[in-house]
Amino acid sequence: MARPLIAGNWKMNTTQAEAVALASAIAAQAGQFERADLLVCPPYVYLSAVATAIGDAPVALGAQDAYHEPSGAFTGEISTGMLLDVGCRYVILGHSERRHTLGETNEIVNQKLKVALQSGLIPIVCVGELLEEREAGRTAAVIREQVTGSLAGLTTTDATRVVIAYEPVWAIGTGKVATPEQAAEVHADLRKLLAEEYNPEVAGEIRLLYGGSVKPDNASELLAQENVDGALIGGASLKADDFLAIAAAG
Ligand code: PGA
Repeated sequence: MARPLIAGNWKMNTTQAEAVALASAIAAQAGQFERADLLVCPPYVYLSAVATAIGDAPVALGAQDAYHEPSGAFTGEISTGMLLDVGCRYVILGHSERRHTLGETNEIVNQKLKVALQSGLIPIVCVGELLEEREAGRTAAVIREQVTGSLAGLTTTDATRVVIAYEPVWAIGTGKVATPEQAAEVHADLRKLLAEEYNPEVAGEIRLLYGGSVKPDNASELLAQENVDGALIGGASLKADDFLAIAAAG
């Protein structure tokens, strides 16, 4: 199995001082987590301050989004090149809050993904079904549509550099975590789908994260599932102790 990736998505939270304190607390203990890769994704405006706080500690830096054009007249947007310039290695794309609140489509996620890969960032592409889609038995179909749409046109080499996060929308920020069986089922489907789209070797190399109310007390069971290669963590990533406890479970 790939080394687990334990990723914190801070969303639109923290002040600069809080972001620096959180990053410093994680960085101070990061050396103990040899079995997992740690990643923090603060808000854009704190990326540089967090990069400084991390220093040489083994904690990667990521952004929560990027624009789908590499540069130009796009007032207010942030390019993948700018993210690299301030020390990012990763970028989250197509988070459900962007898909559902801001109307991001698979086509837009696909454009962003290609720009991110071209620039050398590692994209974390989020997919996940709504509660009504799960209840209607459409989970597998929704995931298939999001994965094939978001990853359309990628070469096999590019595909190995992508991370996919399965985040059931009904589990994000709700405290309603997917059961280990529910997570395992979707992750197994994802692996199968990727083997079909590319080949089994590539499918095996793509890290599949679970996200949605991951906490220290449910992390070890989720991370023990065969095709779960890490976690994307919102709420619990805002407390250094909780984030590190999840990393320890990985
Ligand atoms: P949560 O968020 O851990 O607070 O549910 C997960 C996410 O949105 O990535």
